[in-house]
Amino acid sequence: MPATEMPARSGWLQWPFFDEQHRAFAEHVHAFASRMGESDNAADWAPALGSAGLLRACVPKAYGGTAARLDVRSLCIARELLANSHALADFAFAMQGLGAGPVTLFGTPEQQQRYLPAVGRGTAIAAFALSEEAAGSDVAAIEMRAQPEGDEYVLSGEKMWISNAGLAAFYVVFARTADTGAKGLSAFIVDADTSGFEVTRRIDTISPHPLGALKFNACRIPAGNRIGAEGEGFKIAMATLDVFRSTVGAAANGFAARAMDAAVKHVTARRLFGQRLADMQLTQAKIASMATGLDASRLLVYRAAYAKDAGAARVTREAAMAKWHATETASKIADDAVQLFGGQGVVRGNVAERAYRDIRALRIYEGASEIQQIVIARSILEAQ
Ligand code: CAA
Repeated sequence: MPATEMPARSGWLQWPFFDEQHRAFAEHVHAFASRMGESDNAADWAPALGSAGLLRACVPKAYGGTAARLDVRSLCIARELLANSHALADFAFAMQGLGAGPVTLFGTPEQQQRYLPAVGRGTAIAAFALSEEAAGSDVAAIEMRAQPEGDEYVLSGEKMWISNAGLAAFYVVFARTADTGAKGLSAFIVDADTSGFEVTRRIDTISPHPLGALKFNACRIPAGNRIGAEGEGFKIAMATLDVFRSTVGAAANGFAARAMDAAVKHVTARRLFGQRLADMQLTQAKIASMATGLDASRLLVYRAAYAKDAGAARVTREAAMAKWHATETASKIADDAVQLFGGQGVVRGNVAERAYRDIRALRIYEGASEIQQIVIARSILEAQ
């Protein structure tokens, strides 16, 4: 395949959700992905994405970005096409958007000027520090504290499962400023070189992903590093996740498409019982299920993204549906692809084997599938 030719079955880019700028951006992302080699060193990717201009989609135009405000369809297109080629490229792209998301969406102009241009260039890596050992799905249970003292806050506590731990230049950290559950959380920016901040652990995962634990030991930050008002942290986290959850679905679609394309090629070449594997009806049932599942996922992802771009104040339900359906379906597609490859499918390095591992964490991070189901059901029941 020539380097600039789009991946097989990229007809979805002609769907009415997109305009010519989206299609040109997709070509740009794909050209980048085609010329990059594999690198399992996560730190390589943000500078490479930044140099290619792709991270401009992660920040607003006023700070070096492409669009006046985040264009969720562009974020989704980038994630799908990067995930189609390199899991860590997708991850690095996603984290620049999500890590800087609270600054982009709720920061002051000073905070935005200080952090966002470097995020868009890939010279400052961002991280989103929400989860704790005992507060992952239940965000309102966060224990980490931020105590105001003069014109500073003193941060004490620990964070767990933090992407880009040890790589990030700054972390958006959610901590408790009052004992009032969800309403007692606030958001802060912590520079990686702040005294009292340390990365205590690196966590090895099923597929390469820089993940770790953080500790804040009487870590003093200026009061001006607080994002939004005291008590707004929970809503800042949720509103940021509303924007980025559909992009997780898009990444899942990219992994799934890669596994499916490889499986389709395989079944048309592989012969058994005097015919092609593709000629067997049980194979065709799997192909039909993969293709339909993937298109349904894309429709949900781009519905949520389109709604947000069109100005919807909340896309909580749409984003939850997109993430849940796309990540669960992608896991099934990767599993079916492994099955169609047979023994080769479980050999380390096989495309389907890699996708099978790469997809798994997406059903957990940024809100597990079970949380998405709660969000969807609540939105329907509350409307009764
Ligand atoms: N936007 C704005 N406001 C929102 C909101 C949203 N999407 N969702 C909830 N709120 C508001 C509610 O309206 C409510 O406000 P009022 O009290 O004024 O009415 C308030 O926030 C509390 O909401 P809930 O009562 O619904 O809160 P809850 O404690 O029951 O929790 C939850 C809801 C949906 C389960 C939430 O805790 C959640 O989403 N959990 C999953 C957490 C998650 O996604 N973690 C991901 C970690 S980050 C990560 O994985 C990134 C990475 O490193 C890769």
